[in-house]
Amino acid sequence: MLTATVYSEAGGVGKTSLTANLGRALSDAGHEVLLIDLDPQDASLSYLLDVDDERDNPEANNLVRYLVGRSEGSLEPIIREAEGMDIIPSHNMLEQISKHLQRRANEAADFGESFNVNKQLLRVLREAGVQDKYDVILIDPAATADTKVYNAIHATRSLIIPFEPTGKGSQSVSGLEDLVLGLEEQLSIDVGVMGIVPNKYKDTRDQQQIITEVQDGPYAVPVVFRERSSLIEGCWNKQCTAFKYIPEHRKRERDYERDTLEKFETLAEWCASEVGLEVMEA
Ligand SMILES: Nc1ncnc2c1ncn2[C@@H]1O[C@H](COP(=O)(O)OP(=O)(O)O)[C@@H](O)[C@H]1O
Ligand SMILES: [Mg+2]
Repeated sequence: MLTATVYSEAGGVGKTSLTANLGRALSDAGHEVLLIDLDPQDASLSYLLDVDDERDNPEANNLVRYLVGRSEGSLEPIIREAEGMDIIPSHNMLEQISKHLQRRANEAADFGESFNVNKQLLRVLREAGVQDKYDVILIDPAATADTKVYNAIHATRSLIIPFEPTGKGSQSVSGLEDLVLGLEEQLSIDVGVMGIVPNKYKDTRDQQQIITEVQDGPYAVPVVFRERSSLIEGCWNKQCTAFKYIPEHRKRERDYERDTLEKFETLAEWCASEVGLEVMEA
């Protein structure tokens, strides 16, 4: 099974765009894909894939109810579908999840029980039997390192890290290592890095240098995504992945955009082969 959290400490590096398109490429390759949106903010994966209509309905069943133990078992009641993938959408209640989980932890402590606030997503996914239904689980949390991110990492044990090779966005190789070590220390578990994914790359001398430094570092860099504002903004505008956007909303195919799709496919193959997922013929 391929399980990964798409994470970076920086906001706006392309986590959500990457999660949706990588998920779609894996789905097109014949894998059963589940995406989980853990970002309570509006412009999240649920919005991009147009499944966020219940996010502000306080009565709607949603992942938070499962995490705090109010809903149990199968996740079918909250799973939505888009472009052949299953998605657990975000909900505004996620903003308060740390508070809700801490309350459950205090309650458990009063009764001499153990309750790890960071392992509840892992528990929910196990209890729902997702390992029997899916080949791939990708989680998209917000950039803030908090309970949501920790739950995602406990559930996946592995990271895909989008990385913007600009002066400001660049955290250098040592910054990436610090990120991973920090998470491992915080959670007392090993966290694997499936790959660093440079995004919005412009072929300047400075950026070339940053990319070379990352490629020479300890983590794999399977592909580099170039700056493709028109395509990615178009996806956000039409609420779909690039795999749907190009055939449905472009009058003609542009070679450099086909190239971007191929990179998502290459990354999908890389991730699948890393965990030994059998690649099926489409
Ligand atoms: N390869 C790219 N080229 C140009 N713009 C991009 C690219 N990838 C993402 N973006 C843009 O960057 C912004 C942030 O993307 P998003 O996927 O929401 O990142 P995050 O989830 O990390 O905040 C969006 O406006 C998106 O259109
Ligand atoms: Mg996002």
